[in-house]
Amino acid sequence: MITSDSRTSRLPGFYDKPLAERGQIVAQWANLTPEQLAALDGSGGLAPAQADHMIENVIGLHALPLGVAANFLINGVERLVPMAIEEPSVVAGASFMARLIRAGGGFTAHATDPLMIGQMQILDVADLPSARLALLENKARLLDLANGIDPVLIKFGGGARDLEVRVIADSPIGPFLVAHLIYDTRDAMGANAVNTACETLAPTIEHITGGRVHLRILSNLADRRLARARCMVPVNELAFGGGDSASRPYTGERVRDGIIEAYAFAAADPYRAATHNKGIMNGVDAVVIATSNDWRAIEAGAHAYAARSGRYTSLSTWGKDAEGNLVGTLEMPMAVGIVGGATKVHPTAQAALKLMGVTNARELAEIIVSVGLAQNLAALRALATEGIQRGHMTLHARQVAIAAGAVGEQIEIVAGKMVGEKVVRSDRAEAILKEVIGRK
Ligand code: MEV
Repeated sequence: MITSDSRTSRLPGFYDKPLAERGQIVAQWANLTPEQLAALDGSGGLAPAQADHMIENVIGLHALPLGVAANFLINGVERLVPMAIEEPSVVAGASFMARLIRAGGGFTAHATDPLMIGQMQILDVADLPSARLALLENKARLLDLANGIDPVLIKFGGGARDLEVRVIADSPIGPFLVAHLIYDTRDAMGANAVNTACETLAPTIEHITGGRVHLRILSNLADRRLARARCMVPVNELAFGGGDSASRPYTGERVRDGIIEAYAFAAADPYRAATHNKGIMNGVDAVVIATSNDWRAIEAGAHAYAARSGRYTSLSTWGKDAEGNLVGTLEMPMAVGIVGGATKVHPTAQAALKLMGVTNARELAEIIVSVGLAQNLAALRALATEGIQRGHMTLHARQVAIAAGAVGEQIEIVAGKMVGEKVVRSDRAEAILKEVIGRK
């Protein structure tokens, strides 16, 4: 067994190992049980009978590739990170950037308290300012009421923290009030707890305001539940072989400046920011999905947060420090949990948490935001230098070859030929495959 003291997430050569061996390495690294390994390697995991209890009209399961990103050092802790994603280059990109970032000391990450917002829309109020104040005068009573609902959450230190009341002055139906219940959901994502609390408070809020509480629902703009990560990459680590000409090699300074210029584009232009943030979400969603968290909630929160100034912009920043090293930051809402919902039910999610060594939702949020930052760096580094297609090409070519019907060793032959020809298309894959089969 590998002890936690001697563990490193640097796994040189992991990429080249046979699939089954990779599973064994990871299982030994994280001290997984055979059942946990089976939940990750596809031989076990969620059974259709379990899925039948999760959603309606179940007929089966939908699988995704599960990769493990190496090299992550977050707040001084070594982490292997499971990522569920169908897109090539994402796991490799995260692992590679995590390696560069660990040369600068790794990621520093921090998540705020897990404060979610529940919204109550209050209509038909005669005088909005007076009703607003009446609600604030009754804050303690309303928070007590909310705290009476879930004794387990209270036992773990969660519960209602605050009540805020906003006047929406202009809407298609005219002005109305919105009450925000600020609710600490601890290790849960918290949608159920917050929705229940809002529904419970509604009659009392109607009584206090004389109005009608219409919607009672959590907000996915979880801007009180943020995760933040920052990193530094020593400028010399950014240099790499090649360049667009012998006189213009990819020096560390050139790559760094190219990354900062790419960031500036996203900071200033929503068209670019959407794609830039999509790259961040490649990393974020892959871990969110591996842990069976609600990735639609994370997506909604991320993009709403990116537009919080009124103009959609980059979620990350890139610049240089006094020594000329590249520095990056990422801050975004991160409403993820490790208890309740699918996270608890799904055996792969449980094994994924074990693999990461995560014991609370805060740690999970800190890992996810670090992966998002690494992923962003991978995309910007590629875009700012040789372009994204080169790295994508080989893996993409394999997928095209498989789609064209290649199996076993045919996949590498067909993909290799397409990459050599710089033509990765299904018609070409089919033609090469015919040649390969014809030769036999
Ligand atoms: C592709 O999935 C993600 C990128 O487009 C991100 C970016 O452009 O920054 C490469």
